[in-house]
Amino acid sequence: MTDGHGFLAADLLDPEEIAVERSLRPRSLDEYLGQREVKAGLSVLLQAARQRGEAADHVLLHGPPGLGKTTLATIIARELGVNIRYTSGPAIERAGDLAAVLTALDERDVLFIDEIHRLNTAVEEILYPAMEDCALDVMIGKGPSARSLRLTLRPFTIVGATTRAGRISGPLRDRFGAVYRLDFYAEEDLRAIVRRSAAILGLEVTDDAAAAIAARGRATPRIVNRLLKRVRDHAEVHGDGRVTRAAVDEAMGVLEIDAEGLDATDRRLLAAIVGKFGGGPVGVAAIAAILAEETETIEDVYEPYLLRIGFLDRTPQGRVATDRARAHLAALGYDVPPRRTQREPSLWETTAPGGPAQGAAAPVDEA
Ligand SMILES: Nc1ncnc2c1ncn2[C@@H]1O[C@H](COP(=O)(O)OP(=O)(O)OP(=O)(O)O)[C@@H](O)[C@H]1O
Ligand SMILES: [Mg+2]
Repeated sequence: MTDGHGFLAADLLDPEEIAVERSLRPRSLDEYLGQREVKAGLSVLLQAARQRGEAADHVLLHGPPGLGKTTLATIIARELGVNIRYTSGPAIERAGDLAAVLTALDERDVLFIDEIHRLNTAVEEILYPAMEDCALDVMIGKGPSARSLRLTLRPFTIVGATTRAGRISGPLRDRFGAVYRLDFYAEEDLRAIVRRSAAILGLEVTDDAAAAIAARGRATPRIVNRLLKRVRDHAEVHGDGRVTRAAVDEAMGVLEIDAEGLDATDRRLLAAIVGKFGGGPVGVAAIAAILAEETETIEDVYEPYLLRIGFLDRTPQGRVATDRARAHLAALGYDVPPRRTQREPSLWETTAPGGPAQGAAAPVDEA
C-alpha cells in the first residue's frame, strides 16, 4: 500500500532512502515533536514503570498512517531501556507463532504488534491471558489425549498500533492499560519537523519554504519529510541546493500537489463524487471501484485528511463532497455540475394509491 502520494514503494527500494528515513526518525520523547497530550501521558506511564522496576502497562496507539505510531513504539522501548521486537497482526498466523514470540521475550521487553486489528481470533484468545496474567495456555497432543498446559511468561509490554480503532474487539481493547489516539499535526509542529529534518539532512531551508512544505504535508510527519526530500532533489538539480519557496512551488507542480496538499488521486476522488455521483451521498465501495483502489485504502489513507479539512462529509447514506471541495475543484478548473439532492419520499407519498407520487424519489436539482 502506498501512503497516498504514490512514491512510497519507490522509496523503499532504495537502501539510501531507507537509511535517510531512519536518520529522520525521532529517538526519544524529547525529539518527538507535537502530540503533547500523548507525550505527557506516556512520560508518566514510562517513568512510573521505571521507578517500580516493572514492565510498563500495555499501550494501544491508534490514528491515521504516518503520524508516528511505530516511531513512538520504538521510543517507548528506548525510554524503558529494554529491547523491542516487531511483528504485525497478519504475520502471526497461528497461536503457536504468538507463543514462540512471547516465550522469546526477556523480562520487561516490548512486543510491538502493528495492524493489531488484523489478528485472528485464535491468536487473540492466546493473547488475552498473556496480557492479563502473563499466562500462556498451550495445547499438547491431539485428539482424546490432548491437554492444555499453562506456562508463566516473564512480564512484558505489548504496544499495539492500528489505523482503525473501531476494528479492535472490545475484550482486546480492554486489556490495554493506556490507549492513545494520535491526531493530525498542527502546522507549527510540522514546520518544526521540517526544520529538524532539514538540519539532519544538512539542508538550508528558508522560513517561507518550511511553511509551504508544512502546509502541503497533510498534517502528517511522514509526508512532510517526503516532500522535503523531493524538494531537495529539485533544488539540487534545478537550483543551488537551497530549499526556497520557489523550489517548493516548482517541485509541488511536478508532483501535482496543490495548495491544500492534495494529490492527483485526492482530486480524482473528489471530482468523481462531484461529477459522477452528483456530489453524493455515495458509498465508499463505489468510490473505490472508480479509483481502482481498495476500499480500505480509501478509508485509511485518503478520507481522514479530506474529512479533517472539511472537503468530505460522512453521512449515513454515504460520502458527500462539501461546498469547500466544490470551490477548490472549480478554482482548479474542474467542471463542477450543480449538486443533486436526494429527497426522502414522505410516508404519505410512498403509500398513496397508485404507488409513490411521481418524482418523489427522483433527483432534484438545487440550482
Ligand atoms: N512526532 C514526530 N516528530 C518528528 N518526526 C516524526 C514524528 N512522528 C513521525 N515522524 C516521522 O514520520 C515518519 C512516519 O512515522 P511512523 O512510521 O512512526 O508512522 P506510523 O504511524 O507508524 O505509520 P503507519 O500507520 O503507516 O505504520 C517517521 O519515520 C518519522 O521520521
Ligand atoms: Mg507504522
